[in-house]
Amino acid sequence: MLASGTGTVLQAVLDAGVPVSVVLADRPCRALGLASEAGVEAVLLDRRDFGGYGAAFDRERYSEALARGLSARGLDLVAMAGFGTVLTGRVHDAFPGRILNTHPSLLPAFPGWHAVADALAAGVRTTGCTVHVATPDVDAGPVLARAEVPVHPGDTEATLHERIKQVERRLYPDTILRVLGEIGGIGGVGPVGEMGPVGGVGGVGGVGPVGEMGP
Ligand code: GRF
Repeated sequence: MLASGTGTVLQAVLDAGVPVSVVLADRPCRALGLASEAGVEAVLLDRRDFGGYGAAFDRERYSEALARGLSARGLDLVAMAGFGTVLTGRVHDAFPGRILNTHPSLLPAFPGWHAVADALAAGVRTTGCTVHVATPDVDAGPVLARAEVPVHPGDTEATLHERIKQVERRLYPDTILRVLGEIGGIGGVGPVGEMGPVGGVGGVGGVGPVGEMGP
């Protein structure tokens, strides 16, 4: 699991019994503490050791280090839960079709880090969350699951995001477990390396780079 924030979605994944080998964060954050408390290896691959958050950030070198670290652990699947760094194709090449993400909007609507604020600003009555296979294009890739969440009158970004996250905390663990079952990651058959990418229900339109979360 890759995380950068409060880790409430990560906690839900752990609570659901998903076999998590390692939690990696790009900055000090609560998610690392949750991993440790759960007895899961917690790794800080700190952006500040790779140039930080500005133009000096060496994304290639960071992605290389992350890909090496994860590959060494023989993982079946990589799942992002609020991970604030856009990774290069090096990581996607290391886990082709095996990186999942959850996003707090009904993709392809409202990609990017401000999805909840953008949905509010657009005045939509319904938003939601999307679990998808991650690709080098941010918040794009085959959709695995979607769920709608209503926008209530008077919602703030915080209240709406929390309502969405309540759904993500069910949808993401369920989807991860389903995918692990499909690829043989939980007592399944066949070496994972010989299997193809996880299936989806059709791709969504690609979007350009949409930035990432600041410190
Ligand atoms: C989720 O809404 C996820 O979709 C987004 O970041 C949030 C993570 O929340 N990418 P938390 O840190 O697990 O509470």
